[in-house]
Amino acid sequence: MALSSLKLPDLHDGGQYEAFYDEHRFKILICGRRWGKSLLAAVALIACAIEGGTGWWVWPSFPMAMTGWSMLMKMLLPAVIAKVVNAERQERKITFPGGGSIQMKSSERPNSLRGEGLDLVVVDEWAYIRYGKKVFQSDLRPALADKMGKAYLITTPNGKDHVYEYYQHANLGKRESFKAWHFPTWTNPFIPKEEIEVARRDIDDSIFRQEYGAEFLDDAAAFFTRMERVMLAKEQKQAQDGHWYRGGLDIGRRTAAGTNDPSVLSIIDGSMTPWENCLTMKIEDMTFRQQRDRVIDICGRFELEWLTVDSTGEGYGLYEQLAQNADFTVEGFKYSNQGKIDMFSSLRGQYEMEELFILPYEWLKVEHEMMKPDVDPTRLTVRLNAREGFHDDGPNSLALANKAMKNTRVVVA
Ligand SMILES: Nc1ncnc2c1ncn2[C@@H]1O[C@H](COP(=O)(O)OP(=O)(O)O)[C@@H](O)[C@H]1O
Ligand SMILES: [Mg+2]
Repeated sequence: MALSSLKLPDLHDGGQYEAFYDEHRFKILICGRRWGKSLLAAVALIACAIEGGTGWWVWPSFPMAMTGWSMLMKMLLPAVIAKVVNAERQERKITFPGGGSIQMKSSERPNSLRGEGLDLVVVDEWAYIRYGKKVFQSDLRPALADKMGKAYLITTPNGKDHVYEYYQHANLGKRESFKAWHFPTWTNPFIPKEEIEVARRDIDDSIFRQEYGAEFLDDAAAFFTRMERVMLAKEQKQAQDGHWYRGGLDIGRRTAAGTNDPSVLSIIDGSMTPWENCLTMKIEDMTFRQQRDRVIDICGRFELEWLTVDSTGEGYGLYEQLAQNADFTVEGFKYSNQGKIDMFSSLRGQYEMEELFILPYEWLKVEHEMMKPDVDPTRLTVRLNAREGFHDDGPNSLALANKAMKNTRVVVA
């Protein structure tokens, strides 16, 4: 088998073809999920390597880099089998007969990004690369200098960050060697229209606009904004006459480091208008049995009607113990991706309508503001999580409490 008989995918006319044949040295592609960014990158890297060029494909993390590796393996399979190209899995490097090569890189290891003599660099999911501006400016661009190498900077947007800055500058012509494009997912003719419509219907609007529409949103990276408006609730120590209360409990997990995340209990007073979150507390450094007793004690003081508990994974044990020992309704809720997004969309709706006030704790504000939709570059799925290094236990417990509030109330006369 000769390399010339290798069949690469035809680039689609939803933008891939145009971007590939454009003459600019640096190409910025802001596209929705599954638009075909990575496929375009793979084709560009293979074309470069066939010509004898040296290329790098840089990703935010090692597992993500492996998705690129699999894509290359699939495209090059006949050539790999025929040993026309040499794939070294350990090095994640493919060498071509004329001396060209493609190597996968993860930006998590900054020192591994020092290099020279590159003909092409692709930075994939650029908005998700830590210190993404520095990685391009100080590490990668110098490596392109000696050969006047080219670059593709491709990504789904993530708020108004370094990508947005480059994108704007390119559009305004402030950076001559740059050209920027913007394509939503639906310009990819290989994605069925129904799939897009299902996503539009099921996914939260701002997530849809960012992840599929590839829009740079003001607070895109944040799921909750302007929290001050609703941080007006007052603490209560116990039930007030005639009031009714429900709560949510997020159960702390054992982390990789062997420590426990705190569990967080939130209680909402449903007799106030708007509803008021009257207690949110962390329950730390306790065994599950101690936590159970603590939770039952506090809920008892509020004569709680209903507690919704995160019963995912490890949490199930504590949920069961609570269900057996409490004299109020204990509902278990297992997180799924979609379930979590729905639960949080409902909570956000409450805040936006100012139908729920929460306690004005700084840590609670920060945890809300640090929630963001997360990337799964290989699928059309979006997750909601705390940004790296932050917790989301506070918002979780409030989302669970809000869910508890939404259940039908049976009032016994
Ligand atoms: N030119 C093309 N020909 C055939 N399929 C394509 C083409 N471009 C993209 N696709 C398909 O679209 C899907 C998303 O492509 P991918 O490159 O992973 O998107 P992104 O990196 O933008 O999320 C994949 O299933 C891919 O095979
Ligand atoms: Mg991709």
